[in-house]
Amino acid sequence: MSYRAEYSHSIESPETFWEEKSELIHWYKKPKQVLSTDSNGIHRWFADGELNTAYLALDYHVENGRAEQDAIIFDSPVTGVKRRYTYQELRDEVAKFAGVLNEQGVEKGDRVVIYMPMVPEALIAMLAVARLGAIHSVVFGGFAPKELAVRIDDAEPKVVVTASCGIEINRVIEYKPMLDEAIELSAFKPERCIVLQRPQCTASMEIGRDLDWQQAMATAEPAGCVAVKGTDPLYILYTSGTTGKPKGVVRDNGGHAVALKYSMKAIYNMEPGEVFWAASDVGWVVGHSYIVYAPLLAGCTTVVYEGKPIKTPDAGAFWRVCDEYKVKALFAAPTAFRAIRKEDPDSDLLAPYDLSALEAVFMAGERLDPPTYEWTSQTLGKPVIDHWWQTETGWAICGNLTGIERMAPKAGSSTVPIPGFNVQILGAQGEELPAGSQGIIALKQPLPPSCLPTIWGDHERFRTGYLSEFPGYYSTGDGGYKDEDGYVFVMGRTDDVINVAGHRLSTGEMEEVVASHPAVAECCVIGINDPLKGQQPIGLVLIKNGVEVDEEQLEKELVAMVRKSIGAVACFKKAVVVQRLPKTRSGKILRKLLRQVADGQAYSIPSTIDDPASLPEIEEILDSRGLVSR
Ligand code: COA
Ligand code: AMP
Repeated sequence: MSYRAEYSHSIESPETFWEEKSELIHWYKKPKQVLSTDSNGIHRWFADGELNTAYLALDYHVENGRAEQDAIIFDSPVTGVKRRYTYQELRDEVAKFAGVLNEQGVEKGDRVVIYMPMVPEALIAMLAVARLGAIHSVVFGGFAPKELAVRIDDAEPKVVVTASCGIEINRVIEYKPMLDEAIELSAFKPERCIVLQRPQCTASMEIGRDLDWQQAMATAEPAGCVAVKGTDPLYILYTSGTTGKPKGVVRDNGGHAVALKYSMKAIYNMEPGEVFWAASDVGWVVGHSYIVYAPLLAGCTTVVYEGKPIKTPDAGAFWRVCDEYKVKALFAAPTAFRAIRKEDPDSDLLAPYDLSALEAVFMAGERLDPPTYEWTSQTLGKPVIDHWWQTETGWAICGNLTGIERMAPKAGSSTVPIPGFNVQILGAQGEELPAGSQGIIALKQPLPPSCLPTIWGDHERFRTGYLSEFPGYYSTGDGGYKDEDGYVFVMGRTDDVINVAGHRLSTGEMEEVVASHPAVAECCVIGINDPLKGQQPIGLVLIKNGVEVDEEQLEKELVAMVRKSIGAVACFKKAVVVQRLPKTRSGKILRKLLRQVADGQAYSIPSTIDDPASLPEIEEILDSRGLVSR
């Protein structure tokens, strides 16, 4: 089948299309309602179907000839550990850990927060929660205790699962003290914490609340799979929005399983038994979908990598892993390849490795800039496939469907809409714009399976944040255009979300932290171009009248505050004192103009500006600090 035929079918007859695709998975009870509308007026997929996602990811394969095949290959250059789990072994571990959770009272619908590094036990915990029909919420290890506390308060988990530590380049990060601090900060108190003790550091345990993973597993009774409805939540994953409060994206069981299973062949051209590697982290959506669920739903082997693209031990790390495990598809963020190119521009470290099994490299998480695209394609001599997606969708919105029909790539484009996604470019009044016109990228409803039906505990935020701007459409928050051939070019966010090293962060959240400094009257955080990480945040700070500050000292304090409050992953390293901020007469800071100034782009001063001299003044200050891209 051609891409065009597949895509048209999905848009013209979504119900028939997804009914056919629902046959890809094994249902306990097949759905009769393929597409329905819930009490909030939101389209839902497979509402009356019954399934269990962990069953589909594990037991199904054990029962159908894959018991002895590797499900997980764990490779940890930071600890020197390599370990494999067959489908049978992984199923048994998951069933036992589900038993542990069950003994602690976890049942269908309960939440479990998972705050873990990239170890197989993180996947075991996620799948065990899914086995019980409960809901996991994984929190990325790079987030600080306060961020974890906010998520605990929102998700109200019965149990939190953690490890004693994670390992960064040459550094052991103790997780347990961060969890203890988060629980102190949170109003909601989980009943139990289950702690995986790792050899690199031993966590201290709170008697009565904390349970040792290994000890609990030693006596656990395996638990069976609990059937859930297609629309019952599988997980909540918090992501950055424009305000300080992260949004709990809710993922259904049914639509998610169908969409991900379909994607493995359609987008990634993966067959059961082949090796897939998403070099991300389970704390991000890419990790949820393509380290854990999709490869296992498809009967593939997934690589779990505890390391970085560089320095663990060198820039040949990715090539070593691809060779050693015969990886067929590699998925990573462009920033990883920029880091490799910086360390090893002539790719000398590639020479010792055989990458013949590698069919294609997939990139997402941020815009794939043409130089990184060219370097990676030329260095590897393999197709490099950009695809665009969001935590909210759980899978790609645009991409190149290598398992259906590979389209000719165009640098700077994430190719064409994935079947199911009716991608439109809208003008400010909601009108659909013609090819070549830049606008807001929106998705005409119904959204395909796997996309979020709500924000956990705050449906109004879902409605106002995504649906109300253009009735009948979901606003993606990204801007861009389509060309004459229907290729989509995603140019960047239209809101205050930034992407730093493939990590989605909110400048609004950083502003809240910076503004809480006693010397700061007002501030604005913007993302500026960064040659390695794509973007980096900088703070522009206005000091309170009459307050004397040492600017260097203030910058240090603000950097420390953001690191403490949000986490190292925010990469907030620069704060600059300015005399005034450019605002409209109604008091709105002109952030877009500030970004243009910092990016060295030509800008015109709008007539609505309150203080026209502020922009050149800021340009001069930023320039003197070497913060303007030239
Ligand atoms: N736990 C604790 N701390 C973490 C962490 C984790 N899981 N992940 C990152 N951090 C810390 C880092 O140690 C670093 O701390 P530092 O400021 O003390 O050095 C900080 O957060 C920033 O991390 P990062 O942005 O990852 O920078 P880096 O310099 O350590 O590495 C890259 C740079 C490019 C190698 C790395 O960012 C990378 O591999 N990016 C790919 C990202 C990715 O896969 N994203 C998923 C989307 S697909
Ligand atoms: P996240 O929710 O963390 O996956 O981040 C989603 C955001 O990352 C999107 O809204 C985009 O701004 C950006 N993004 C992800 N993939 C791409 C891509 N291939 N091209 C351009 N931007 C991307």
